[in-house]
Amino acid sequence: MALLKVGVLASGRGSNLQSIIDSCQRGEINAEVKVVISDSRDAYALRRAEKYGIDAYFVNVKEYPDKAAYEARIVEILKQYQVELVCLAGYMRLVGSTVLKAFPWRIMNIHPSLLPAFPGLHAQRQALDHGVKISGCTVHFVDEGMDTGPIILQAAVPVYDDDTEESLAERILEQEHKIYPQAVGLFADGRLQLVGKKVIINGGKKNY
Ligand code: GRF
Repeated sequence: MALLKVGVLASGRGSNLQSIIDSCQRGEINAEVKVVISDSRDAYALRRAEKYGIDAYFVNVKEYPDKAAYEARIVEILKQYQVELVCLAGYMRLVGSTVLKAFPWRIMNIHPSLLPAFPGLHAQRQALDHGVKISGCTVHFVDEGMDTGPIILQAAVPVYDDDTEESLAERILEQEHKIYPQAVGLFADGRLQLVGKKVIINGGKKNY
């Protein structure tokens, strides 16, 4: 079976990128990370990619006249690697229409809350401030909104009275590293079907 070609956009440490690379390498999912792109020169995600011999690009937004031109360069790189699925993994920019149009319903994101609760920045802090007893993470397809796209997988974790932003983030991250590769695997196997705003998971025996 041909492996799904994945491109990852990351701005920071890239632990989710790592979880996808690991799952690919262990043969758990029918996918391979072909290229990693960052908007930050110092992103550790780029170093991780290099470690595995994955081509890594820093695309400097300041070198482009506008967002469309910056994104056109990103699309150019992704197309060069014949990427079939784009994974946002701690990518700190809102994806614009240039990338969205080039990869319709082929862009995923991971967010550290149970969407639609707490979209945007500092999701863990938002959850703590709100006093929720359960939080978690969500893998979703990306649309033009901020963390608003169709939900693919979610995982829940408890929130404790003595949690800090860091302790909650750590508990959630553990789950992120499970469900993101799973979602990529489901996509790779053609099991995700978008029906309206809903993502149906077809086939297989496993309950998600
Ligand atoms: C994760 O918490 C992810 O949910 C959010 O940004 C963080 C990225 O972490 N979108 P990493 O760079 O993957 O380690």
